[in-house]
Order: sequence, then C-alpha cells, then structure tokens
Amino acid sequence: MTFVITENCIKCKYTDCVDVCPVDCFHEGPNFLVIDPDECIDCTLCEPECPANAIFSEDEVPENQQHFIALNAELAKSWPTITEVKGASADADDWNGKPNKLDLLER
Ligand code: SF4
Ligand code: F3S
Repeated sequence: MTFVITENCIKCKYTDCVDVCPVDCFHEGPNFLVIDPDECIDCTLCEPECPANAIFSEDEVPENQQHFIALNAELAKSWPTITEVKGASADADDWNGKPNKLDLLER
C-alpha cells in the first residue's frame, strides 16, 4: 500500500507534506510532488498535512484520479527527493481547488 498525490497538488505544491515523512519518499518536479510507492510505508502522517487535500491512500484515490497512481510511480523514478518544506508555488491559493490541472503539469 502507498499514498498517492493527486491533481490538486499541481501548481499549489505547498510542500507541508514533506516534513512529516519518516522515509523521505517525496520527489519534486517543477510544479507537482509525487510519492515513491516503493518507499512509502503507509504511515498516514502526510495526508492531513496537505492544505490542498491532494493526498490519498492508494485504495481511497477518487475514481477520476486513478491515473495518478501510475503517474506517481513513473515520476518518482526521475524526479529528485525533497526532504524539507519550502515555499508554496506562486499563486498556490488561487490554484487550490481549480479543476483540470493535469495539462499544466510540468515534467
Ligand atoms: Fe511518507 Fe507516510 Fe506519507 Fe508514505 S504515508 S508518503 S511514508 S508520510
Ligand atoms: Fe502537494 Fe499538498 Fe504536498 S499541495 S506538495 S501534496 S502539501
């Protein structure tokens, strides 16, 4: 079991989640974070930390966000690890809750 970051993180990237992870399994791209499913120990600590409610247990990912399970696994292989909280993306609060952000994902 792993936790998964979903669409609402895109262009928000608050990074609050990073601080609590005991195994440093977050990886950072230009405007999105992912969780490495091979490293996540299912501790649940990160889920309530996200101001964008973008983190779900793998078995609770909403139906319309299922593609993010594979996307987290794919991008975790190439993006660098992030272990410290840093400032959210510019205009993060404006983007929080906006639909259809997948096309804005930068790799
Ligand atoms: Fe890290 Fe725990 Fe979140 Fe997995 S559930 S990403 S181990 S904080
Ligand atoms: Fe993204 Fe939420 Fe973490 S917006 S960077 S999953 S705190």
